Amino acid sequence: MVPSRPARCWSSFRLRCHPIRFYSIQSHSPPPWRPVSALDDWVQRDIRPISLRQLTFFGRTLTESRLISSANYVRTELPTRVAHRLRDIQKLPFVVVANPHLSLVYELYYKAFERLRAVPEIKSLEDNEKFCAMLRQTLKEHLVVIPNLAMGILECRDLVPPDEMDKFMNSLLRARISRRVIAEQHLALTETFNSPWHFPDFQSRSDVNAEFVGEVFLKCNAREVVERCGKLAQDLARQSSGSDKIPEVSVQGHLETTFPYILSHLEYIIGELLRNSIQAVSEKYKDSPEQPPPIEVLICEAPQHVILRVSDQGGGIPRDLLPYLWSFSKGPRSRTRLENLGQVPAMAATMQELTVSKERKHADKQTYREGSLDSFTSRPPDLRLGMGLPMSRVYAEYWAGSLELHSLEGYGVDAFLQISKLGNKNEQVTTRASIDAV
Ligand SMILES: Nc1ncnc2c1ncn2[C@@H]1O[C@H](COP(=O)(O)OP(=O)(O)OP(=O)(O)O)[C@@H](O)[C@H]1O
Ligand SMILES: [Mg+2]
Repeated sequence: MVPSRPARCWSSFRLRCHPIRFYSIQSHSPPPWRPVSALDDWVQRDIRPISLRQLTFFGRTLTESRLISSANYVRTELPTRVAHRLRDIQKLPFVVVANPHLSLVYELYYKAFERLRAVPEIKSLEDNEKFCAMLRQTLKEHLVVIPNLAMGILECRDLVPPDEMDKFMNSLLRARISRRVIAEQHLALTETFNSPWHFPDFQSRSDVNAEFVGEVFLKCNAREVVERCGKLAQDLARQSSGSDKIPEVSVQGHLETTFPYILSHLEYIIGELLRNSIQAVSEKYKDSPEQPPPIEVLICEAPQHVILRVSDQGGGIPRDLLPYLWSFSKGPRSRTRLENLGQVPAMAATMQELTVSKERKHADKQTYREGSLDSFTSRPPDLRLGMGLPMSRVYAEYWAGSLELHSLEGYGVDAFLQISKLGNKNEQVTTRASIDAV
């Protein structure tokens, strides 16, 4: 347990315990495994934001030299991005950084930073193979980051103003998504380059992989995603509750609309919204003689956006939870969330990792395009972590979209997801080390 500390000591405490300063007080120079000046160098660099359109354009005609440029972009971009987040963590009060969960994250990030910045220029396909193996290893090691961040934030909820903690968590998670997008895109491009059907100037239209450029799905069809995630959410609810009062999911509106997007991001958001709706409706109707009313999803295509409205009649959101829906750090269920998170050692924040059983996971492999990490994590769907909504909003905002909820007390909930349709918006990340307010 972290000792609690009165809030008013905050800034002076921070000054005393700022990790950089902390080193100089303790030992007059930083320990050799903490080259503070190297971090300073990298923090000076600006990150280079990406858009879906750039990712697609770059990967479309994939040649050896493009693959190698992609590797070198990743090689310099990832340590820059990690450096900014390391600096953000260093700016937190020491009592927070000393939390075992948060210090584990800090250590992992530092290790990744050191590892990445040591990679020499990539000049050949062989160099790239080694680099990819290192990326995969790092992504795998970092699967423990989300649950540890979430637990650390909850444990420190009395030590830092909750709004500041939420801001910190949001920027860390967004940055984490961005790094994974960059790394996974490069891994997927390498996989495409190495696959037997790849010829730089030709893509077979009959192959489903031709619709993907790396991780970007060029023709994301909202209706198909809703139907697929709806079915998965229904199955999970049926298996975990044993109830047959599971609502149908009906889809209306512009059913043919497609747009470029990273499929796993959209599946996560829609999956979490549908899971919440299905849970609320089946809970409300579990002892009723009536059949539960369907979840209605409306897809609306506008010139620049696609908007999805998910409407349910599950009775609405309990009034005491409403102010805390988007918070990682506060709310009446903090204690239960902390206990539940303790049962989830690793989390990729994908829809595919939700699973009641291993067999189910195997069956899902037929339906979903598997990401590079999907086989390493799983979490039971009925374990409420309080992560679904805030994490979905982080995903939605990352590609310049938005997520809003309207609760009609006693009746149901309308969730509005807005997606930028053209893929020309830059990722929304904090570009520099930023947590000055804390
Ligand atoms: N459509 C809804 N109808 C009624 N209550 C809802 C709805 N959506 C969310 N809620 C309430 O808001 C809470 C927070 O939702 P959120 O998805 O963030 O976390 P969770 O569902 O508790 O856990 P997790 O999604 O991590 O498994 C839910 O526990 C539920 O009480
Ligand atoms: Mg949920």
